[in-house]
Amino acid sequence: MFESVEMAAPDPILGLTEAFLKDSNPKKINLGVGVYKSNEGVTPILDCVKQAETKLISTEKTKGYKPIDGDPAYGKAVLELMFGADHEVVTSGRAATAHCPGGTGSLRVAGEYLANNHKGATIWVSDPTWANHGNVFAAAGLPIKAYPYFDATTNGLNFDAMLEALKQIPAGDVVLLHGCCHNPTGVDPTTQQWEQIGDVLAANGVTVLLDFAYQGFGLGLEEDAQGLLALAKPGREMIICSSFSKNFGLYNERTGALTFVGKDADTTTKVMSQAKKLIRANYSNPPAHGGAIVSTILADSELTALWKKELADMRDRINGMRELFVETLKAKGVTRDFEFIKQQLGMFSFSGLNKDQVNTLKTEHGVYIVGSGRISVAGMTPSNMDYLCESIAAVL
Ligand code: LMR
Repeated sequence: MFESVEMAAPDPILGLTEAFLKDSNPKKINLGVGVYKSNEGVTPILDCVKQAETKLISTEKTKGYKPIDGDPAYGKAVLELMFGADHEVVTSGRAATAHCPGGTGSLRVAGEYLANNHKGATIWVSDPTWANHGNVFAAAGLPIKAYPYFDATTNGLNFDAMLEALKQIPAGDVVLLHGCCHNPTGVDPTTQQWEQIGDVLAANGVTVLLDFAYQGFGLGLEEDAQGLLALAKPGREMIICSSFSKNFGLYNERTGALTFVGKDADTTTKVMSQAKKLIRANYSNPPAHGGAIVSTILADSELTALWKKELADMRDRINGMRELFVETLKAKGVTRDFEFIKQQLGMFSFSGLNKDQVNTLKTEHGVYIVGSGRISVAGMTPSNMDYLCESIAAVL
């Protein structure tokens, strides 16, 4: 059976980590995957997470199955974190959240829900988008197309072309938007642009799927929810896929959420019942630990305050690395203007390096970045900066 099977291509992001681990270059740097590192180059467990885990160890009484859509306390915490407890979406009961394994798991369930229940719907993603979106929706059997997003000449948002393309999308299709810290470009719409996007899509009967994986990594927890809030007008439907890998540092706990916002509570209950059928046939019910950590932190005002501080520290460190990166490139004699990197938001810098340069960085310098030229700023440290910038100067 197995002899005729061919080798699959490595994953464009996680495959880089596999290659990095095999590389014997002592100076190698992995700036591929979006994983936060401290100045010392380690991915820390947040103090608030450790404290929540300590609390859980002494209070947890069972390892019994969770409901198919997870613990209701988790769903409530996720909704309130995104919208605030008093928002109409929350108080009306027209939103329901399922705890899913990571942002990827949430996207996959959303994709399968759409492919199974809205036959003929296409999902539209930004050009460019996260390298895994295509895999996830193809695996779910959902047709996928792209709309323009990034303008390489200005290193900014090509808003006019984006809005024009969004206006042409037929009713019944779905548009994936990145809630904040667009991956890979780090370029987000302004609040006013979010409003315009929401109005155009709602007027045309197009549903938004918001991929919300970096809340708190851009400008702040509330600031990063401005797009979500601009889209969530009374009566409007949407789907939100959340990830807590980054903002709670829970990468390997696979902690995410899928939220449906329907026109009313009844509609949402029916929609969630279909998603639950798909979850049951896939992984049955979610892994508990990561969700329990998030709900424990968000239910405790002291732990929440500590989390907000630790999140702000991560954000500030990344922004400090952006500044240092641009300055060090200059100091190493690079004349190309990289100032735009200071304006980009989130974990990544979309550098503009081409495929050949990316490849040479890997093979000759042991510097691993994603093929699109995306560099994880979150993995830069004061001690790898000189070598990184010397390597980039050498390939430019
Ligand atoms: C990334 O874009 O690097 C992260 O979202 C991690 C992943 O799973 O790709």
